[in-house]
Amino acid sequence: MSTHGDSSATRNSSSKEGLPKVNHVETKSELQDLNIHGFINEALFLKNFLLKRKESEEFKTLAIVGKYGVGKTTLCQSVFNDEDVKRAYLPRIWVSMYSKETREDEDSKIAVVKRILRSLGVEDEMFERIKTDAEEEKRGKDEAGEESEETVKEKELSRLLHTLNSILMWKKYLIVLDDVCEDNEWNQRLDGGEVEQEKWHLSCGFPKGFGGRVIVTSRDERLAKKIVGEEENLQRLFPRSDAESVWEIYYDAAKTRVMVNPRYPGRFKQELMDKSCGVPLAARMLAKIDPEKVDA
Ligand SMILES: Nc1ncnc2c1ncn2[C@@H]1O[C@H](COP(=O)(O)OP(=O)(O)O)[C@@H](O)[C@H]1O
Ligand SMILES: [Mg+2]
Repeated sequence: MSTHGDSSATRNSSSKEGLPKVNHVETKSELQDLNIHGFINEALFLKNFLLKRKESEEFKTLAIVGKYGVGKTTLCQSVFNDEDVKRAYLPRIWVSMYSKETREDEDSKIAVVKRILRSLGVEDEMFERIKTDAEEEKRGKDEAGEESEETVKEKELSRLLHTLNSILMWKKYLIVLDDVCEDNEWNQRLDGGEVEQEKWHLSCGFPKGFGGRVIVTSRDERLAKKIVGEEENLQRLFPRSDAESVWEIYYDAAKTRVMVNPRYPGRFKQELMDKSCGVPLAARMLAKIDPEKVDA
């Protein structure tokens, strides 16, 4: 996971229970500022998912799946930063799941929950306390000869999730988990379904009934489905099918370097489409090489 693109909340004073107050959290977005081409229907679908009034009380999840470079992050960033969305959701938390900073010995699920909590203003001191409490509880149970199936990590995770739940309670929160992969072990259905869950089940971190939303993006459709449960909560993002938006993406990326003015625009755009297969990242990469080579 990375702090890159992470939306960090301003720190707030602590409430009586020692938990930060998040009523006035403003998220500061470091997301890139770029012209988005195409994605009109996709963005409308996402905005509709976030802003449709009828289901506003329900907790909902949505997965955006598609191959590398197709624009999942870009699409979600644009909607995450949309003014209507900003007005409707507080807090908004952006979590990039990939990071070079993740400690080797740290449990993947615990690491993600901590990152969400950190962006809500929870400080390391609290994490230390939670860990110590979990260890002591386990030791106490072992000494008393009590049967306990929970490991220390499960106890720690359940306490962290409980803390997250308390902070998000009554709030209309929006959380984006960007680029979830197997390594994150973020592989449980977040809306909990109908089943009674263990205390350390990830869904326990997300209060239901206040209109909260979690959006995940992933290249792994099977994994995404585990998180959102139903097929109807899965949205596939495909490469661009119109040569014009691929051209615009290419043009935007190239114009800072060279002036692109093809002699045969129609042919050039078709070449671009064939070479990039409609994938925005590929179009941007082609912009880094000479225009003649695209047209060759
Ligand atoms: N619709 C678009 N308009 C302009 N640039 C785009 C668009 N979609 C993607 N890009 C650019 O393509 C690159 C890859 O997009 P990204 O959102 O990171 O893909 P993904 O998250 O699916 O791997 C980024 O540099 C992004 O800025
Ligand atoms: Mg991405």
